[in-house]
Amino acid sequence: MPHASKSAAKRSQKTLERVFSKAGMGSRTEARSWIGAGRVRVNGCVVRNADHWVDLERDHVTLDGKPLRKAAHTYLLLYKPKGYLTTYRDPQGRPTVYDLLQDAGLWLVPVGRLDLDTSGLLLLTNDTAFAEHVMNPDHKVPKTYQVKTATRLTDEQIDQLRRGVPLSDGLTRPAVVTRVRDSATRTFLEVTLTEGRNRQVRRMIEALGSKVLKLVRTALGPIRIGDLPIGKWRHLTAGEVRAFGGSRSPSSVRC
Ligand code: URA
Repeated sequence: MPHASKSAAKRSQKTLERVFSKAGMGSRTEARSWIGAGRVRVNGCVVRNADHWVDLERDHVTLDGKPLRKAAHTYLLLYKPKGYLTTYRDPQGRPTVYDLLQDAGLWLVPVGRLDLDTSGLLLLTNDTAFAEHVMNPDHKVPKTYQVKTATRLTDEQIDQLRRGVPLSDGLTRPAVVTRVRDSATRTFLEVTLTEGRNRQVRRMIEALGSKVLKLVRTALGPIRIGDLPIGKWRHLTAGEVRAFGGSRSPSSVRC
């Protein structure tokens, strides 16, 4: 088999549970329960094994007798409040961003994550290729944060944030940092990073001997949070999706 068609064949093969999450129909956990309940058929036969391989080019998959259909691509911008987890379910029962998206009516994956105590712009989509593109550190998609620190930072400390801070997982990339204002004991900064390591802003500020008191993400790539109320979501416009580059098909975005 020539190389190109071999990899195309590989791409169309997925485990049964993945087929549903990839199509934006539900989480893998939900898919497992549908499969276990005998609601899923492959080529007319009930399959109860979630790890069963299917070839989407050849196999006919149904849920409750209805053929699997790829959901149109949807891209949402949520203003995540502080105190919400960027996960689907929390064993401790804390609120998650999905509690705020119940009216979206679709299974969506977050494009990266924000800490429990961070608020601001969070994108969610069922276009997993888009999510992977935006999160890929090689693409250096800028992320902008408003930061309030527990101490007043010196110019030298701010320069260090710009140049790069040594963290346990290596030196941070150069950042764009603007001092917005100071109070007697605090500094308010705008920080733009081109990487998205775990708790990166908090760890950078802690490495300077200070602490983050408030963290809000206000922009991701070309998208700004604007005047969206906290806890609310909106669809990205077709122009916003296109502005990320690549050949997306924003089939259900609002113009
Ligand atoms: N940096 C952090 O420290 N936390 C976030 O949630 C995002 C960036």
